[in-house]
Amino acid sequence: MNPAQAPHFVQWFRQAAPYVHAFRGRTFVIGFPGELAAEGGVAGFLHDLNLLAALGIRLVVVHGARPQIEAELKEKHLRSRYARGLRITDAAALVAVKHAAGVLRLELEAQLSQGLPNSPMAGAQIRVASGNFITAQPVGVVDGIDFQFTGSVRKVDTVAISRRLDAGDVVLISHLGFSPTGEIFNLAWEDIAESTAIALKADKLLLYADELPATRKGRVLHEVTARELATLATKEKFSAEQKRVVKSTLNALAGGVGRVHVVSRKADGATLLELFTRAGVGTMVTADGLERLRTARIEDVGGLLALIRPLEQEGALVRRSRERLEAEIGNFQLIAHDGAIVGCAALYPFDKQSAEFACLAVAPEYRDAGYGERLLHACEQIARTKRIKRLFALTTRAAHWFLHQGFKPADVSVLPEEKRALYNWKRGSKVFVKTLR
Ligand SMILES: CC(C)(COP(=O)(O)OP(=O)(O)OC[C@H]1O[C@@H](n2cnc3c(N)ncnc32)[C@H](O)[C@@H]1OP(=O)(O)O)[C@@H](O)C(=O)NCCC(=O)NCCS
Repeated sequence: MNPAQAPHFVQWFRQAAPYVHAFRGRTFVIGFPGELAAEGGVAGFLHDLNLLAALGIRLVVVHGARPQIEAELKEKHLRSRYARGLRITDAAALVAVKHAAGVLRLELEAQLSQGLPNSPMAGAQIRVASGNFITAQPVGVVDGIDFQFTGSVRKVDTVAISRRLDAGDVVLISHLGFSPTGEIFNLAWEDIAESTAIALKADKLLLYADELPATRKGRVLHEVTARELATLATKEKFSAEQKRVVKSTLNALAGGVGRVHVVSRKADGATLLELFTRAGVGTMVTADGLERLRTARIEDVGGLLALIRPLEQEGALVRRSRERLEAEIGNFQLIAHDGAIVGCAALYPFDKQSAEFACLAVAPEYRDAGYGERLLHACEQIARTKRIKRLFALTTRAAHWFLHQGFKPADVSVLPEEKRALYNWKRGSKVFVKTLR
């Protein structure tokens, strides 16, 4: 390694440590389309999965094979037929499906079996378990169209999968399911990934897609709630693939899966960056909790004062009059829990470039649950839409919280002039700055 890169490496490794601890023994379901294997880059992706397994994560990997099936059909001069976004699998197409799935599964198993020295898989010794874990049922006849051997998930054999996971195996599931009548059905990989994650009560479901959910202006959303994603999907133009992924994401969250991450299938190392860095590179989707994050309204002033007054008395926050709060209410984001305000933060744009992140407060009984971080992220999202490049914050008590959130200590002189003029030297707040990307 180039000695100049060493500090960066050490810092990166250290910042990943909390995730390593948090993920050990957790169950992740990883669903990816056949494109990931067809378009190259699968070796790096499997190396990353190998690393996850080595870190003690219980892995269930589900793969699709749409382009591989297309290629098989083309070779046999057969036409692909689709309806309602699903392939119509007739008897001839089923042969192509079996070939494509079989070949791809074997290739994936082979790649996961590598262990050559001087490769990322050195000493890996992963055992891959595949099998008849998915019971399928035919989609049947819909709007007069017989989908024949196209199926959907009827049951996931969680006992068998858990046994394999307990034994330390990585479970690999193809996009096929079997019926009690002994037939094979072709399923959407998204359906299997979603159903398996729900059945196993997985901690995470990772879904790989060509494009991440983004706004019309192309801004990728790195953290959204299920409700926000559902709203976005109705408003924005999503591709057929994105729609399938969004549907599975929402179903999985409604079914009790902890978190769903939509990850780009094209970026090398996206899995590691998404899981082991604070900002991530994909879209993390969380269920809508009882709590709600929203912009404050004038009727919230009473609740906000009840939250911040005790902290003002302690000296953690600067005193704000009711009138000032009323005038600035639109700058505040808050988290309400069952109607009660339990957290707030404000964003004050100063010039075109910078904004102050201020008045951050979380009620004592709700601390350490990530509310502070969510409020910061919400303010960062708003700042980005205003094209603000950097946030600054002044704090007397929470310096380390800001450091933890990627802020850097700075001198009073970096504050916008208007703010600098108001700086209270007696209070002696520490200044922190964060560059937004
Ligand atoms: C600072 C504050 C908003 C954090 O809210 P929160 O919702 O508990 O924060 P999060 O859940 O996002 O983060 C929790 C993490 O930050 C750490 N943390 C919380 N407050 C901290 C502080 N004052 N200093 C250093 N670390 C702190 C916690 O130990 C926890 O660390 P962990 O993840 O390693 O367990 C909250 O403690 C608070 O309201 N404090 C009083 C008001 C205040 O000081 N506001 C800042 C003024 S600008």
